[in-house]
Amino acid sequence: MEAKGIHHLGVAVEDLDDAVATYQRVFGAELEQRETVPEQGVEAAAMRIGVGRVELLRPLGADTHVGRFLAKRGPGMHHVAYEVADLRGQLRRLADEGVELIDEEPHRGLFGLEVAFVHPDAAHGVLAELVSSG
Ligand code: CO
Repeated sequence: MEAKGIHHLGVAVEDLDDAVATYQRVFGAELEQRETVPEQGVEAAAMRIGVGRVELLRPLGADTHVGRFLAKRGPGMHHVAYEVADLRGQLRRLADEGVELIDEEPHRGLFGLEVAFVHPDAAHGVLAELVSSG
């Protein structure tokens, strides 16, 4: 697979207001979008930093994916998101190559993006998100 670039980095945080303010103050980041997605158990803020982007993720409860991540590993890097063309085709190719996928099919992710996740075991310990470039 050939990713077109890194779409964003996902960071798990305990306090979203505090994290947004920190990224604005320390890195000059701009708040691009913010939303709460109960079905995914997160409140998220997309922070734009030049051509890059950091997605700050606060769990809505302890019994959510990000909540369990925070309890186990504390705040910090949660995932790397790669932009790819033909997401559905890429997932088929990765599955054929035996790459361990969390999602076999794309689904609607944060901020209206079409995404699918690749297991951390397939990427040396880092959860990978594939974001469709359309
Ligand atoms: Co993400």
